[in-house]
Amino acid sequence: MASNAKGTRPQTRPAVAADSSELAEIAREAYGRYLGLVDEPPAPLLLDYDQVAASGRTHVAVVDGRILGMVTVEPDDPYLILRNLAVRPSCQGQGIGKKLVALVESMARSAGLKGVRLWTRAEMTDNIAFYQALQYELTHSEKNERSHRVFFSRDFR
Ligand SMILES: CC(C)(COP(=O)(O)OP(=O)(O)OC[C@H]1O[C@@H](n2cnc3c(N)ncnc32)[C@H](O)[C@@H]1OP(=O)(O)O)[C@@H](O)C(=O)NCCC(=O)NCCS
Repeated sequence: MASNAKGTRPQTRPAVAADSSELAEIAREAYGRYLGLVDEPPAPLLLDYDQVAASGRTHVAVVDGRILGMVTVEPDDPYLILRNLAVRPSCQGQGIGKKLVALVESMARSAGLKGVRLWTRAEMTDNIAFYQALQYELTHSEKNERSHRVFFSRDFR
């Protein structure tokens, strides 16, 4: 994984309530580029980040005290669902997203779960390439008048 400009690798930790405004800022930065590309605002732009930060289900990647990325998990036995993975645009392409996905996978393995599942929007073609690069299998898609979702799974063998 590449280091950031200062040569420091990000550390991960659970989010805490005080992270709320930084998480909301990352969501605005990371998902803002999809406004206009999809018919409705991406769901992460509509979340209450006071709740997200305090949920106990969100982890962050931090360098020098600054949060660069976040991910939230949701249990769905026998899988762990990966939600709302986002990295600051200025820090993308440095392995932070991959590190947060690996964290979710290690949480799922530690809990004895079968694997990790997630969905993204079909219009977000970069995400499809990203998850496929990380060995996620595209399982199916669901289209209705409001959205076109693409579902991925990584089963541990
Ligand atoms: C998707 C996202 C989290 C990826 O984070 P990132 O830190 O930029 O990704 P990484 O640098 O960890 O990339 C990991 C791997 O995926 C590959 N990858 C990333 N984007 C890719 C793309 N568009 N096409 C092909 N491969 C890609 C990288 O090359 C890297 O592979 P490597 O380890 O072999 O070098 C980030 O782009 C983001 O925040 N996007 C906006 C929010 C969003 O849409 N989130 C996903 C919601 S489902």
